[in-house]
Amino acid sequence: EALEATATIHGDRAQGTISKHIYGHFMEHLGRCIYDGLWVGEESSIPNTRGIRNDVIAALKDLNCPNLRWPGGCFADDYHWRDGIGPRDKRPERINIHWGGVIETNAFGTHEFLDLCEIIGADPYIAGNMGSGSPQEMRDWIEYMTFAGESELANERRANGREEPWKIPFFGVGNENWGCGGNMTPEFYSDLYKRFATFCRDFSGNHLMRVACGPNGGDDNWTKVVFSRVGGHAQALSLHYYTLAAPWHDKLSATGFGEDQWFGILRSTMRMDDILNSTEAIMNDTDPEIYRGLYVDEWGTWYQVEEGTNPGFLYQQNTLRDALVAGLNFHIFQKHHQRVRMCNIAQTVNVLQAMILTEGEKMLLTPTYYAFEMCKVHQDTKFLPVELETPEYKFGDAAIPAVSVSASRGDDGTVYVSFVNTHAHDSINLKCQLAGVDAQKVTGRVLSADSLDAHNTFDQPNQVEPREFTDVSLNDSTLSTTLPPHSLVVVTLSN
Ligand code: AHR
Repeated sequence: EALEATATIHGDRAQGTISKHIYGHFMEHLGRCIYDGLWVGEESSIPNTRGIRNDVIAALKDLNCPNLRWPGGCFADDYHWRDGIGPRDKRPERINIHWGGVIETNAFGTHEFLDLCEIIGADPYIAGNMGSGSPQEMRDWIEYMTFAGESELANERRANGREEPWKIPFFGVGNENWGCGGNMTPEFYSDLYKRFATFCRDFSGNHLMRVACGPNGGDDNWTKVVFSRVGGHAQALSLHYYTLAAPWHDKLSATGFGEDQWFGILRSTMRMDDILNSTEAIMNDTDPEIYRGLYVDEWGTWYQVEEGTNPGFLYQQNTLRDALVAGLNFHIFQKHHQRVRMCNIAQTVNVLQAMILTEGEKMLLTPTYYAFEMCKVHQDTKFLPVELETPEYKFGDAAIPAVSVSASRGDDGTVYVSFVNTHAHDSINLKCQLAGVDAQKVTGRVLSADSLDAHNTFDQPNQVEPREFTDVSLNDSTLSTTLPPHSLVVVTLSN
């Protein structure tokens, strides 16, 4: 069956910039994200650049990966940066208390992380240890990384092989301090935040965006208390919301699901819009000029781990459903572009909603990777409003919009439009009026597959990949297309 939808894309009402940082990433010392996934060491037979896998480097470069958040997550509030500098054979072994109780070798530390950022051209976003660390430890780390002059710490950096300071644009003061980062009340956290942030200084022309820990999903009380109390001591507030659609202790399966769970996950991920609306309303009370940003620095699907894997490693498969989750979230983030200036999917490799999975020397790109790759055209473009009349996709007693659309315009006038058809079975005939869009040519790409849980495996790594999309045409100022069921489509309109 085909459903009908209409839209108007307003090139005549361009708004602000969609920050490229909305397409950011997150890598934690968790399971096989860093070790195996990114870091194999210089001695490895897996081709690498100073210990970092070349295949993963190439894949992340192709994404125009704008930033990387590290070292956690929960790990960050138990991480002592001095453990991860200096000769690798002298670095202490510690227990990773949050993630499986495994030994952390500290082979991957500050220099290795910042080397990776430079190689792929991503801005570092470091999460400092507030839970178990001290203000002095935090301020020293910042001086070590960013001070250009002569000081004991800057000279120690030089002795460890790095002459020039690094630029660190983003710095989180703690992580989930309402939970794994110290189980604090918002009142206590706000006071402690100000104490720590006071010592997080800008050295040698480096300018830190200091990020305060924000709510768990829609915990409005946390937002109210923290955002008003930390005031201008923070340049941004974080927010975490994971897509689960089931109780925490009984998570859904990443593959082998029916339409009920397809629908459930898409519906649950759309809650992000409500959560951002309510969080922004609170932020607007004390910051109506929208000076301070909201960073959704952890988001994505969270399923049962793959059978036979360590439950503490959070390793899950990734299907077409996850790609649509990503597309829907990009659209929500783009709609909120004024306040939402950074987002980081959890996590880059081998953990939760990953872009990349590895097994020894093998690597595969997931459907989520391709959603990022297709939608990267929106990075640093101007947001174009869209008026949409969409049919509903009904399942049982519930319904969600069958179509989601987001549009933007690049500096050269090219217009990009991405569409998600959430419907499991029906295609959508869509007519889009283009207001103030000057275009003669249209090209498109589509991500879809025969089954809802289609995914890539190490034996069959090319099951879900973008293809050229030809079911789209442009006549005067009307764009006509038929969106296949359960698909993500991105079209480019140019002259
Ligand atoms: O991404 C996995 C974990 O989820 C992070 O460590 C933590 O911040 C969140 O609870």
